[in-house]
Amino acid sequence: MVRLATRIGGLTLANPVMPASGTFGPELAEVMDLDRLGALVTKSVTPEARTGNALPRLAETENGLLNSIGIPGKGLAHFVAQAMPEWRRFRAPLVVSLSAPSVAEFARAAAVLAATPGVAAIEANISCPNLEEDGRAFAMLPETAAAAVAAVRAASALPLWVKLSPNTADIAAVARACEAAGAEALVVANTILGLAIDIETARPRLGAGMGGFSGPAFKPIALRLVWQCAQAVGIPIIGVGGISTAEDAVEFMMAGASAVQVGTASFVQPTAMLDVLEGLVAFCARRGITDVAQLVGMALPARERLAAE
Ligand SMILES: Cc1cc2nc3c(=O)[nH]c(=O)nc-3n(C[C@H](O)[C@H](O)[C@H](O)COP(=O)(O)O)c2cc1C
Repeated sequence: MVRLATRIGGLTLANPVMPASGTFGPELAEVMDLDRLGALVTKSVTPEARTGNALPRLAETENGLLNSIGIPGKGLAHFVAQAMPEWRRFRAPLVVSLSAPSVAEFARAAAVLAATPGVAAIEANISCPNLEEDGRAFAMLPETAAAAVAAVRAASALPLWVKLSPNTADIAAVARACEAAGAEALVVANTILGLAIDIETARPRLGAGMGGFSGPAFKPIALRLVWQCAQAVGIPIIGVGGISTAEDAVEFMMAGASAVQVGTASFVQPTAMLDVLEGLVAFCARRGITDVAQLVGMALPARERLAAE
């Protein structure tokens, strides 16, 4: 038997595997039992309705995916009234990803979520690239990241996870600022800015030009970011970026992640998350590991591993 229970701040998950925001919806219940996941994570909800970016919004590249979805959606009031009843059908804890265009809007939306039954935690997406600002987002700088996190922290007592961006120059500094501002966990990381060009038309393949890159080719970068954050902060890290197999998940956990999220791989294989979970159990059993938490930080230099214990 392998113990899978995973503590992320104030929340205990049944296991450490969950979906990545924006790559999954309740309709996946048709192909698998979503209550077997450690948590459910919604796509980012914004305070107001948004139309999203110009088409096309997806472009496949070698070993990866570019997207410039632009967080289209019907806004927070619609989410609370229409989407939440559907999410409440599941037993797995629901993590609502929240994105907002200003600190004040982050605070207002967090207060609404705090008053919404069935929300287990907020994942503050401070890293969504704002393409109109040439890719700049709250998560680019420690100061702007901390301002958004502090606003959400003050407005809601819900467990607060903060999703960081790989596009910043110093992820460790941003991670420390988020921890100091009240983050209970860090989700590392969102997509990295990329570009693909159609050489017949000499135009970017995405309508918005640049987009967020995800999938297998992103994995070594995301893994490095987890490794750096794990040595910078004491709060749990949830690793995400290019995970499609249990072996990938083990790598992230050994780099310091307490849990993992699966995104792009679910588009290729909708049951990828459960395959990762089952493979994780098999790996631990084969290696005589009785608690999945033992994997966390196994590959970190000894000093940091000791500090985390
Ligand atoms: C189509 C698509 C939509 C996404 N939407 C969101 C989103 O709404 N909020 C968010 O925080 N991340 C979003 N992401 C980023 C993923 O949650 C994840 O951080 C990233 O894709 C890296 O993981 P992966 O390589 O496993 O996909 C999106 C990614 C993709 C591919």
